[in-house]
Parts: sequence; structure tokens; C-alpha cells
Amino acid sequence: MLPPRERLPTLPDGVAAQHGHLAANIRRLRLAHATGGPWEELAALIDQLIGEVRAHFEYEELVMDRGGYPELEQHRSMHASFLRRLVALRAECERRESELMGVLVELLESWFRSHEQTADRRAAEFLGLEE
Ligand SMILES: [Fe+2]
Ligand SMILES: [Fe+2]
Repeated sequence: MLPPRERLPTLPDGVAAQHGHLAANIRRLRLAHATGGPWEELAALIDQLIGEVRAHFEYEELVMDRGGYPELEQHRSMHASFLRRLVALRAECERRESELMGVLVELLESWFRSHEQTADRRAAEFLGLEE
């Protein structure tokens, strides 16, 4: 298997480390928005996040596929819908809609946390991964 970090050097190895890294970057984005960071900075943070989230999801789906995880298809569609929201957020950034942007960032943050604590945790238990 080609680990994602060979394609994306900013993403750490291992599911748990990736979760910590992504949560930190989502928080960074929220703080940058809350403190009135420039749109260019927000756009760059979202672009980085899209790349890292995509690589993380691919990695997770590969691990689930190899482990014969029975809920892989449902899990895959949750990932796809999160990615769509991230891409929509990037479009809001282009429109410079600050209020909507703040709401969307908070939604993303809570989605990511709850996905990790429920769907990812269930998969990790099935696959015998350390979370
Ligand atoms: Fe995950
Ligand atoms: Fe997941």
C-alpha cells in the first residue's frame, strides 16, 4: 500500500494521528475566520484541508476494505457528503459570505467530531485498530 503521506507529506501516519491533525486544522480555520483572517488565508486553509481530508478518507476506506468492514459503503457515502460540504465551504469563501461561512465552519467541526466518535470508532473496534 502507498501510505498517503508519500502523496501528501503534511498528513501523519495512522488513523488516530490523522484525526488529531485534521481536528487541529479545522480549529485553526475556525479561529482564523473568527478573528477576521483575510479571505486568502481562509481559502488556503480550506484548500489544504480538502487535500488532507481526501487523503485521510481514502486511507480509512482502504483499511476498511482490506479488513472486510461490512459498513464500508455507508461509511464511504458519509465521507463523500462531508467532502461535498467542504467544497461548498470553499465556494462560500469565494463569495466572501462571512456569516454563512462561520456557521458552515462550526457545522463541519461538529460533523467531524461526531463522525470520529461514532462511525470511525465503530469501524476501529471492528478492525481492531487503536483509536
Ligand atoms: Fe476518520
Ligand atoms: Fe471515517
